[in-house]
Amino acid sequence: MAFVNVLNMDCHLILNGEPQEEPQGNLFIYDVFGAKLHYEPDESKCPEACEDLVAELKAVGKNPYYVPLGASIPLGSLGYVESAKEIAEQSEIQGIKVQHIFLASGSSGTQAGLEVGTKLYLPECKIHGISVSRPREELQKMVSQLGNEIAEYIDKEIHFEMDDICIHDEYIGEGYAIPTKAGNEAIRLLGNTEAILLNPVYTGKAMSGLIDMLKKGILDDAEAVVFIHTGGSPAIFNFIESFY
Ligand SMILES: Cc1ncc(COP(=O)(O)O)c(C=O)c1O
Repeated sequence: MAFVNVLNMDCHLILNGEPQEEPQGNLFIYDVFGAKLHYEPDESKCPEACEDLVAELKAVGKNPYYVPLGASIPLGSLGYVESAKEIAEQSEIQGIKVQHIFLASGSSGTQAGLEVGTKLYLPECKIHGISVSRPREELQKMVSQLGNEIAEYIDKEIHFEMDDICIHDEYIGEGYAIPTKAGNEAIRLLGNTEAILLNPVYTGKAMSGLIDMLKKGILDDAEAVVFIHTGGSPAIFNFIESFY
């Protein structure tokens, strides 16, 4: 969204929801960066709304490039294939063996990219996707399918079955973007001990999953665990009241 400004392009966002009188959190940032916002209250109609907008822009002589939800397509996931390579290189330099990687998993692209990347560069490492919205099986299916598409896209002989994908869906709480007590406690803990800011929608819930597994002793034998901070910290300002 932000980088289009450097490329002198326009950015249109189709958002599921209603316009806010005074935009907060990420909406405020979209506004400051000059993105053109379009709202669709019915989530199931968002793909259609995107198609309509693409057609409208073409009709007035524009050349739109459509990025689907979460950029969860093979091209959009390549950055996270590369991130596994970076983790492998950095851990080798530091002489540590990374056995587990934790991340917040929503529309599957981040995890699918990492799954492919770890097969290539960190074959002994296990990825733990902490679901922020979808039941385990649904997300396992999405990640394995996209993982297979990425492998084909980059011409690698890698194949995933659903059961190869580890998803933890017990940290979602009441639903997507509804903060949990454990997630918010994890946010305070990271702020107070590491000076790192997480958010209640994604990274806070993922960190609460990692902390829970540490408490249960599930990771006791691990030499090194990596938590991927996938960003999105400004979203915390939408959820201030949930901390009090
Ligand atoms: C901060 C943050 N973390 C994690 C994710 C999950 O990524 P994905 O949708 O690729 O699963 C998102 C998606 O929007 C995000 O904003």
